[in-house]
Amino acid sequence: MTNVVIGAASGMGAAVARQLAGQGPLLIVDQNIEGAEKLAAELGSAVRVAGCDVTDQGQVDALFAGVEDVGALVHTAGVSGTMATGRRVLEINLLGTARVLSAAEPLLRPGSVGVCFASQSGYMVPETPPLFALLEEPLAQGFFDEIGEYFDVDNSALAYQVSKRGVQLGVIT
Ligand SMILES: NC(=O)c1ccc[n+]([C@@H]2O[C@H](COP(=O)([O-])OP(=O)(O)OC[C@H]3O[C@@H](n4cnc5c(N)ncnc54)[C@H](O)[C@@H]3O)[C@@H](O)[C@H]2O)c1
Repeated sequence: MTNVVIGAASGMGAAVARQLAGQGPLLIVDQNIEGAEKLAAELGSAVRVAGCDVTDQGQVDALFAGVEDVGALVHTAGVSGTMATGRRVLEINLLGTARVLSAAEPLLRPGSVGVCFASQSGYMVPETPPLFALLEEPLAQGFFDEIGEYFDVDNSALAYQVSKRGVQLGVIT
């Protein structure tokens, strides 16, 4: 089974990839392909590299089309509220996670494990059941219009918190 680390070009994703290297087939993934290739060169020839922007459904599907089954799936790709617009933060952190999970799900086997990186910031979002219900289906049509009734999606700091609450809700259910 292949271990897959998404967001592996830097930070915690790179740290996880270093830990998984040498423990079976490893695929490291990032939209920053140069960064991922640099890490792969450090880790050795058994490591495969793929470029993928998790906001692009076609790229996510193509990524997993090249994987037979998944051992560990570690999804760390994300941006903070200072790095992008609110909508883009939600696209990467929340919709990106949903795309990855739905594409990977058919490849999970008994013993597979998945870890998605959220943040304690998610717990700063006040308990709002109708918003939380929407966050569990981030790929639904009209998602941005509907969540826009509960907070300003162009406020990137708020969008970050909400995106991470959505990761917690979607992954834990
Ligand atoms: N660093 C912190 O203090 C902190 C705190 C709480 C949560 N987190 C979360 O943990 C995760 C990892 O954080 P980090 O500090 O290691 O971040 P990082 O910026 O070092 O690494 C994130 C990686 O994600 C990749 N990425 C960004 N957008 C992408 C996209 N659309 N498609 C594919 N890859 C993309 C980047 O190229 C980068 O390599 C993130 O989800 C972050 O929100 C970080």
